[in-house]
Amino acid sequence: MKALIIGSGGQIGTELAKALRDKYGQENLITSDINENPIEPNFYTVDATDKKAVEKLIVQEQVDEIYLMAAILSAKAEQFPMRAWQINMNILFNLLELFKEGLFKKLFWPSSIAVFGPHTPKIQTPQYTVTDPNSVYGISKLAGERWVEYYFLKHGLDIRSLRYPGVISWKVQPGGGTTDYAIEMFHYALRGEKFVSYINRDEPLPMIYIDDAIKATLQLMDAPSKNLTVRSSYNLAGVSFTPGELAEAIRKYIPEFEVEYRPDFRQKIARSWPDSIDDSYARKDWNWQHEFDLDAIVKEMLTNLQSHFYQDYDLSIK
Ligand code: SER
Repeated sequence: MKALIIGSGGQIGTELAKALRDKYGQENLITSDINENPIEPNFYTVDATDKKAVEKLIVQEQVDEIYLMAAILSAKAEQFPMRAWQINMNILFNLLELFKEGLFKKLFWPSSIAVFGPHTPKIQTPQYTVTDPNSVYGISKLAGERWVEYYFLKHGLDIRSLRYPGVISWKVQPGGGTTDYAIEMFHYALRGEKFVSYINRDEPLPMIYIDDAIKATLQLMDAPSKNLTVRSSYNLAGVSFTPGELAEAIRKYIPEFEVEYRPDFRQKIARSWPDSIDDSYARKDWNWQHEFDLDAIVKEMLTNLQSHFYQDYDLSIK
């Protein structure tokens, strides 16, 4: 089995690359990103919107499965709506068409909690419910879900997808997302600085720790096709918390940490998204179960960030 990650330099791509390298062996993982990465093995600099370049790479490396992790996230997409729509959709369409031509065997494409909107039930949001996204990113993800399912139904293409909640990780920071505040908070706390949150103190959002997100991705990709009853995108849940709750959880280890709340346009996006997610289809179809709760996430984040980026900070976590 040979795998290719498109967008391997991103927040999720970086950690997925490590997991797939462990799973398939270094020689069987090809990585690519729009940004160069001279130290990574089997790496190609590729612009995912360039269909010819993507096709060339797939044919040359004879890959079996592809993880399409390149995208413009929610907050950034609001600043460049047309560009974000074109990029997010074209990247997907290029891959769907190349898949239809038989160039590879399996595709992973991430969707998001952004497919939900203001009229979606907010608590334990079900798999099948109102989806009326009002962000450009959410509209592109919902359209993508419809197309992914269409290509499965019409052409039998084995495409698998998850509606990721906000992903919390420490190695590579995300860029341009609404849920990024949660990651920034840890950095500020360890720098001993006050954090100004662009999300309200009491706005709950569904989140997941990176290890759980990667585990879910691999588990879904490994699940027997016949077990999958959702061919658009699976709801996926880890934990839910508000900025106020996260700050409190961090204060358990860094008591002097201060947060001020100054919501901006991203608060509106957050308000339109669910508070918590019902992921029972994932649990039933491929035995999904998350591992990291809020305190476990806080401990992992603080210890990893401290030892890799903030060695001067005197942190004691038992
Ligand atoms: N975490 C993403 C964002 O905030 C949602 O998929 O844009």
